[in-house]
Amino acid sequence: MTIADFPRYTFLHEPTLLQPLRRTGKALGHPSLYVKRDDLMPIAVGGNKLRSLEFWVGAAMQEKADVLLVAGAPVSNQCRLTAAAASIAGLDCHIYHNAEDGLEARRASYLSRLFGASLHFLGPLDEHQRGIEVENAAAEFRRAGRRPYIIGNAAIGGLGYVRAAEELLVQSRASGADIRHVFLPGSMGPTEAGFIFGNALLGHPFQVHLASVEYGQAEFSARVQRIYEAIAELAGPDAPEFNDAVIHYHMDFLGDGYARPSPESEAAIIAFARTEGILLEHTYTGKTFACFLDLVRRRVIPADEPACIIHTGGVPSLFTQFGLFREVPLMPGS
Ligand SMILES: Cc1ncc(COP(=O)(O)O)c(C=O)c1O
Repeated sequence: MTIADFPRYTFLHEPTLLQPLRRTGKALGHPSLYVKRDDLMPIAVGGNKLRSLEFWVGAAMQEKADVLLVAGAPVSNQCRLTAAAASIAGLDCHIYHNAEDGLEARRASYLSRLFGASLHFLGPLDEHQRGIEVENAAAEFRRAGRRPYIIGNAAIGGLGYVRAAEELLVQSRASGADIRHVFLPGSMGPTEAGFIFGNALLGHPFQVHLASVEYGQAEFSARVQRIYEAIAELAGPDAPEFNDAVIHYHMDFLGDGYARPSPESEAAIIAFARTEGILLEHTYTGKTFACFLDLVRRRVIPADEPACIIHTGGVPSLFTQFGLFREVPLMPGS
């Protein structure tokens, strides 16, 4: 079975924009810097999870599911995009938030409600307990004669970025950009493992740089390899072996941890807003763009090797982060 044989629900009809970062390149003395705008997609402001959803919803439709279940924090991009995808596919959507119900949580998940999803606030559970609650909810739906599909299988979701690697290579060649280095946020792993698998299928045209925004090196690299191997198992016996020679893990931008702002993420958010008009946020893209800027500035990425950062989206969460900036205070004089 090849990746093309997996059921896919098409949310993206065209490649996302590959855009030169001219002012950034000029400031850093690097003539060939690019951003791939996965934050500009036609649905719900887009983001990396929409590529995963093409395969999750494809699988759900093949199973004749009638309701999608998804879990996450109220601000989760995966939950918002699942709600939007469900509305397009004509499926019901139930979202399970591991948070207390309250004004702040409802503000953060407001867009999911706008897309018609039903929200459930489970209280402050850990990810494991949250998973059990979702399984219980699925069993309940089945008893009621419904056909639930739980969003989140990492290998299926990773297929979205297997395709994205090929999409980027085609763009890189057609535009003459000849991209050699690609940067991505490092978090739960499906996006990263999918891209790395796609890169392997293409014969490793890219050096892949992952800026961890969630885990320490050992746990993070183990996750990436585990999901890569799960994708390889889906793809069948001809799948390329995992090869970490082209993967570069960058751990210096995690700061105080997941979703915590850092001086570097703030500086990157401000820099890209004020030089390129591009919005980033503190959890994923701010830290990854900070890593990208640092490596280019220090010539770890040589000036004659073109580099591209993938903007994985998450822009709506910036609207909940206005209190996190030190240099852009909310109130005058504060
Ligand atoms: C905007 C954004 N970027 C990056 C990631 C990380 O993707 P993954 O979970 O596949 O590691 C996420 C995950 O939610 C995200 O929402």
